[in-house]
Amino acid sequence: MDAPALRTERLVLLPLGAADIDEIAAMYADAEVMRHVADGVRSRAETTAALGASENCWRSNGWGLWAIRDAATGGLLGEGGLRPTAVIEGAAADFGITLGRRSRGSGLATEAGAAIIDDAWNRYGGDLIHATVLPDDTSNSAVLRRLGFTMTGVRTVQGQPHQIWVMSRKP
Ligand SMILES: CC(C)(COP(=O)(O)OP(=O)(O)OC[C@H]1O[C@@H](n2cnc3c(N)ncnc32)[C@H](O)[C@@H]1OP(=O)(O)O)[C@@H](O)C(=O)NCCC(=O)NCCS
Repeated sequence: MDAPALRTERLVLLPLGAADIDEIAAMYADAEVMRHVADGVRSRAETTAALGASENCWRSNGWGLWAIRDAATGGLLGEGGLRPTAVIEGAAADFGITLGRRSRGSGLATEAGAAIIDDAWNRYGGDLIHATVLPDDTSNSAVLRRLGFTMTGVRTVQGQPHQIWVMSRKP
């Protein structure tokens, strides 16, 4: 079977994996980019492990994280999609997007997120997708609101209070 791909006006998305190591390692090493991401900056070894986990997730679940690339140049702009999780009952997938510094502020996360969520309902068998957000991460919550997620409350995740945002499958 061909690898899945998503296309939008400005972006092309492909499953995130080992081939993305050089570009994604540079983004994961940027402390400003990783300020609101669990566990912060990642070493190259941690990035290699994360890419392995991404490939495994695609293999075992048929859904996962996407490398978000510029449709015109092919350059990596960020990553986003679904990670397996067990934070709240009924939602086995946690949605998130991370963009490199230069790619923010022009609607690219919203554009990628809309394509990812649309597609996710065809791949993911559950009826609920959630996202966990640090309370001061207003850029992230703005993206979730634009995509149609709703904030349901605050819960401690990995020792820190996080907002819990959810989206349900449309009937
Ligand atoms: C979360 C994150 C991806 C959001 O990126 P973003 O650039 O703010 O989001 P968007 O791409 O949707 O862009 C929205 C901004 O572009 C502007 N914009 C311009 N054109 C737009 C368009 N066509 N559609 C939507 N917004 C547009 C909006 O006004 C907004 O600007 P503002 O922040 O000044 O209000 C980014 O902050 C990030 O990577 N953070 C670090 C990683 C992280 O913590 N991720 C979450 C945990 S996994």
